[in-house]
Amino acid sequence: MRLGPAVWLSRHNRTMRRMPLQDILFTQGFGTRRVCAGLIQKGFVSIAQQVQSDPAIELEANGLQFTVQGVPWAYHERAYLMLHKPAGTECSQKPSAWPSIYTLLPAPLRLRPQKGAVQGVQAVGRLDQDTTGLLLLTDDGKFIHRMSSPRHHVPKVYEVTTTHPLDDGQVGRLLDGVILEDDPKPVRASACQAVAPHHLRLTLTEGKYHQVKRMVAAVGNRVEALHRSQIGGLALPADLAPGHWRWLVADDLARIAG
Ligand code: URA
Repeated sequence: MRLGPAVWLSRHNRTMRRMPLQDILFTQGFGTRRVCAGLIQKGFVSIAQQVQSDPAIELEANGLQFTVQGVPWAYHERAYLMLHKPAGTECSQKPSAWPSIYTLLPAPLRLRPQKGAVQGVQAVGRLDQDTTGLLLLTDDGKFIHRMSSPRHHVPKVYEVTTTHPLDDGQVGRLLDGVILEDDPKPVRASACQAVAPHHLRLTLTEGKYHQVKRMVAAVGNRVEALHRSQIGGLALPADLAPGHWRWLVADDLARIAG
């Protein structure tokens, strides 16, 4: 049986995972094993308010909370997080015109090792530079693959501000399907509702390039602003401000899978 990350997370959180402290820091992206040993020996690492200066001390990693140079951290064997993407950021490691979303994350999340190389977390799909809202990131390649696979059809909800007032005809055509120039097959919204004269709530299960903007243009309107409010059953929390991130817990992952 293939385990979804929600089951995987809850099981792994219960599994014993004893490791030398320097390895724990290494797996979390605090630098090479040597750098991590140095941080510990120099007294920069504390557990339960006690400085821990032995890099070789074996500790249970799952559930471990520690601080590195005063910054609190919690051990995560795999990283799953949500970011409230602000406007004016690119979902690329090598942005062309706007700051990268990755600059919004603490260095350890960008430097987590994977198979011997620095890999860091990766965005699960991309949002345009001017799109805001819910973005998932992880270092679990299988999760990215599963979420991006057209077979899985995870619904994504977008709040669209339109230039022109919406009418029933536009909503109906988005539900019936519109043709985009690069594909002869119609693409349709799985749900679509005019919440206000200039506010469309659109649910898509695919992720084609500029899909919302192109679909809205295809029915004779235009996107002024675009915000992703939900992925699967996971909504962007109202208290997560733009530019901020938080860890996903097993319940969040279960909601995404639906
Ligand atoms: N559709 C778009 O047009 N842009 C996005 O950022 C996401 C979906």
